[in-house]
Amino acid sequence: MKKAFDSNNPLNNLNEWEDDLLSRYPDPSEKKKEKDEFRNYVDSERVETVKEFYRINHTYQTYDFVCSKEEEFLKFNKKKMSIWEAVDFLNTLVDDSDPDIDLDQTQHLLQTSEAIRADGHPDWFVLTGFIHDLGKILCLFGEPQWAVVGDTFPVGCAYSDKIVYSEFFKENPDYTDERFNTKLGVYSENCGLDQVKMSWGHDEYLYQIMKNYLPDPALYMIRYHSFYSQHKENAYTHLMNEKDIEMFEWVKKFNPYDLYTKAPVRPDVQALLPYYKGLVAKYLPEKLKF
Ligand SMILES: [Fe+2]
Ligand SMILES: [Fe+2]
Repeated sequence: MKKAFDSNNPLNNLNEWEDDLLSRYPDPSEKKKEKDEFRNYVDSERVETVKEFYRINHTYQTYDFVCSKEEEFLKFNKKKMSIWEAVDFLNTLVDDSDPDIDLDQTQHLLQTSEAIRADGHPDWFVLTGFIHDLGKILCLFGEPQWAVVGDTFPVGCAYSDKIVYSEFFKENPDYTDERFNTKLGVYSENCGLDQVKMSWGHDEYLYQIMKNYLPDPALYMIRYHSFYSQHKENAYTHLMNEKDIEMFEWVKKFNPYDLYTKAPVRPDVQALLPYYKGLVAKYLPEKLKF
């Protein structure tokens, strides 16, 4: 089923961006799968919608745009919710996923966190897997897809050609703005990523909500999990300090759980709930401000 075309929201559903990541960064442990014709057809249609998605993302994610979104959302005056209410809220995201094939957002979160738990990682790492995409509720506050998902990248300095579809940055006003289009732009060499504004989306938003509650490695995973041009391509090491370099080892450790745990088997949400209730209560306050 194809939804009516909405020029601001070209993806049929948010998972299309993540499915596309899988074709860019296939699971190294999986042998190349034989694809049937239907799959190929779906893939080629997806290439076009994902391309259009990146065209508008790269055109509109400017330094000033990020400042305006920070101003709007970092007041946290939209909604007060527990993690559980946020999870339920995220699941009201009505998009064009096929409920028979696609997993809903909670299932993606649980598959990620359960794979982390199965590998015996610390409990805050498991919790991070469980909450890492909750920032996608931005969509439910009326934000367009291109300001919620997609690879993230620094704004305020030159866009790297290592960013996917970087040719689309030519349409971005910052591309020709001499304050922003040099290698360092408004930043200084190795200033540290904490000084650097990233393109606006679900990663930065959730980081800002969680920053007082979780250990640094968890916060780096949340904040930079979509920063593929760094954690996969090392395009912005010149902006990072020593702490960033050290912490990015955790971001890299997290990435395969995010990308490669989407099994068609649905996790038994009811059976897992008691463990996760305890985990959430251990680290997070009862209500959080979104
Ligand atoms: Fe994400
Ligand atoms: Fe994710």
